[in-house]
Amino acid sequence: MKTLIQNGTLVTAEATFAADLLVENDKIAGIGHALPTQGVDRVIDASGKLVIPGGIDPHVHLDMPFMGTYSSDDYTTGTRAALFGGTTMVIDFILQTQGDTLYNALRTWQKKSEGKAVGDYSYHMAVTDFNPDVAKEVVAMIEKEGISSFKTFMAYKGALMIDDGQMMNLMRVVRDHGGLVTVHATNGDMIDALIARHKREGKLSPLYHYLSQPEITEAEASGRFADLLYYTGCPGYIVHMTCEGALNAVRRATLRNQRVLVETCTQYLVLDASLYEKGFEAAKWVMSPPLRQPKDQEALWAGLNQGLVQVVGTDHCPFMWEQKKMGETDFSKIPNGHPAIEHRVELLFSEGVAKNRITLNKFVEASSTRAAQIFGMHPRKGTLSVGADADIVIFNPETKHKISAATHHMRCDYSAYEGMELTGKTETVLLRGELAIHNNECLIQPGYGQFIHRGKTQHLG
Ligand code: URP
Ligand code: ZN
Ligand code: ZN
Repeated sequence: MKTLIQNGTLVTAEATFAADLLVENDKIAGIGHALPTQGVDRVIDASGKLVIPGGIDPHVHLDMPFMGTYSSDDYTTGTRAALFGGTTMVIDFILQTQGDTLYNALRTWQKKSEGKAVGDYSYHMAVTDFNPDVAKEVVAMIEKEGISSFKTFMAYKGALMIDDGQMMNLMRVVRDHGGLVTVHATNGDMIDALIARHKREGKLSPLYHYLSQPEITEAEASGRFADLLYYTGCPGYIVHMTCEGALNAVRRATLRNQRVLVETCTQYLVLDASLYEKGFEAAKWVMSPPLRQPKDQEALWAGLNQGLVQVVGTDHCPFMWEQKKMGETDFSKIPNGHPAIEHRVELLFSEGVAKNRITLNKFVEASSTRAAQIFGMHPRKGTLSVGADADIVIFNPETKHKISAATHHMRCDYSAYEGMELTGKTETVLLRGELAIHNNECLIQPGYGQFIHRGKTQHLG
């Protein structure tokens, strides 16, 4: 099967140029001017459109047990919604149950995903209980299972959090085998004490979720994580960074020639904490860490351009409104997370490129290429080059549209971005050469999505 994408503007992390692109079966087979149509089965005219590598969202939670319930998108609905928005691959989080093995957790997540994913996927392994037996499993994950990134939590004590001693020992093993330690970097003990104080004082609305996680809790933990990495010599990546204080901790680490990788998420770039003044409706934006201030958004946009922030994910972790209502009388029982997997690429283009905050190339780098490099999939994923998987998005930079729960494809009965007007829309998506999204329809079935066996960490500089 040969598909020719004609007359588009190709954009990679490095360059923007007019060219045709030939897909043969599941791979990119040619890039050039006026490529011949002879023997081609399908021609797509991309005049006036951008042709970009399929987006990679390295931070999603599908069908995840959390806070007494499960995130509402599963592998079918979540990866399909991602495709509609131009994300062809996601990396989900396996959660080790404390006291249990990594392999048992892996098997649980394989059952959730195999035969069900529409788009491609991989897993990070969250290590919630580290000991010498788990250390051996960490090595097997990297060397045998293609899972080379290990998530840690410095918060959610009693469920997911590990202490600094466990963190240090995990870092040593991961360092020795070419993996990467990633982290939810907030000071769990401080947050728990602030939650308890607010509850004692009868302050129970969602606003107090925000007030229980001040910027300093994230700045402190980010700095501590950087110190532990420095001491152990392990590469590390901070997920869902929200604020100037945390970014400054990473900036400080550069003074000793240390590189700590950083991901932010679209919500922290485009939404702010004024939403917590909306009474219980604010439960839609109860996530951890919480939304911050406009000065933090500015710091994050600048951080992208300064090369301090490499990746933009979503931390997609949706809950239906009925689930959010579990915390109607106590903010600490509102399941944390919001629906976003579908909007990441379009939001980053609209708020970033169309508003002149970032270049087109930075947009591709942050939404696809750097994730592929950092998480050991480049150049198979994350770029437009001959031999790469034909994961391709044809994007119309002029189309104006509005986000709404009435039209989104995520399994969530509200939108955290309702009514927001965007410039730029994903029109057509190819996943490993198959036409996946076209004319607002998904043309591939559950089970088409493949587990992507990842290599060791690459290109950290
Ligand atoms: O609020 C969030 N972020 N929910 C998902 C779990 C996590 O901490 O990433
Ligand atoms: Zn987190
Ligand atoms: Zn998360």
